[in-house]
Amino acid sequence: MALPQTAPTTLPILNNKGGIGKTTTAVNLAAGLARAGQTVLVVDLDSQVSASLSLGLSRDQLSPSVADVLFGDANVEDAIRTLDADPVDLLPASLDLANADVSLFNADDRHHRLARLLDEVEPLYDFIFLDCPPSTSLLTLNAMVAGDALLIPVSPAYLALEGVVRLGEVIKQARDSLNQTTPVLGLLLTMVDREIENTEAVISQIRTYYGEKVFSTEIRHDDSLVRAAEQGRSIFAQSPASPGADDYAALASEVYERAQQHRVSSSSPAASSQHERGTTDLR
Ligand SMILES: Nc1ncnc2c1ncn2[C@@H]1O[C@H](COP(=O)(O)OP(=O)(O)O)[C@@H](O)[C@H]1O
Ligand SMILES: [Mg+2]
Repeated sequence: MALPQTAPTTLPILNNKGGIGKTTTAVNLAAGLARAGQTVLVVDLDSQVSASLSLGLSRDQLSPSVADVLFGDANVEDAIRTLDADPVDLLPASLDLANADVSLFNADDRHHRLARLLDEVEPLYDFIFLDCPPSTSLLTLNAMVAGDALLIPVSPAYLALEGVVRLGEVIKQARDSLNQTTPVLGLLLTMVDREIENTEAVISQIRTYYGEKVFSTEIRHDDSLVRAAEQGRSIFAQSPASPGADDYAALASEVYERAQQHRVSSSSPAASSQHERGTTDLR
């Protein structure tokens, strides 16, 4: 199904916990939207470079990276790659990103540099996904400033409700320190395996507490997603008939719909006053 083109939407994939499916979501959601005819860029902001490797780059292909762009050593257009296996563009990470906090610390634009750099390429894309590191570093704050709305993966296996509430506090602190309120597009349940004890209870708690903020699509636990990442391809290129492909295709439709609604509401006066008031948690 081809979806009509839209104004660009930049979505940070954010959670200060690691290993809960951020990178897998950035890569496969991007590929799902690309397969529906959207133009999509993935920006890898993690010095672990997992999104870059998962999309098929090797370690000796990472230069120029987003670090070179952020530190003024490369133009953003020159650092963006097209890929062999998937119709997605990639701005790769590199190990130097680990120094970003130190390098940016004294810069006047330390919170806004990424947003300014992405301004140049935003007109080229329908969606830009920012794969964030598992920390509240300056890079994550840059992603929040550059983002139109946050997408927050949550794994019921690793994160009970208290963890989600804590994440809400972290996001509130970041919003306060930036004096800016990036809304939450949605919470995404990842690596869902109902065979694991308590999974059902944790999911129902999260759904009760956060209501419609939680995407109705759940990403099931599926080892095909691990294999696709190891092969440097999206799940659509590697295993198009897998549960992971079905789930990320369903998520792509849901994200597209929410992004449309978000664009409409953020351009209306009522919504912008709500935007100024800000929200104090993920709801
Ligand atoms: N739905 C899933 N089913 C099975 N394995 C998954 C799933 N999502 C992610 N993984 C695997 O779990 C590990 C951590 O996922 P990743 O997306 O890298 O998390 P993060 O970016 O939050 O650190 C990776 O090996 C990834 O392939
Ligand atoms: Mg990651």
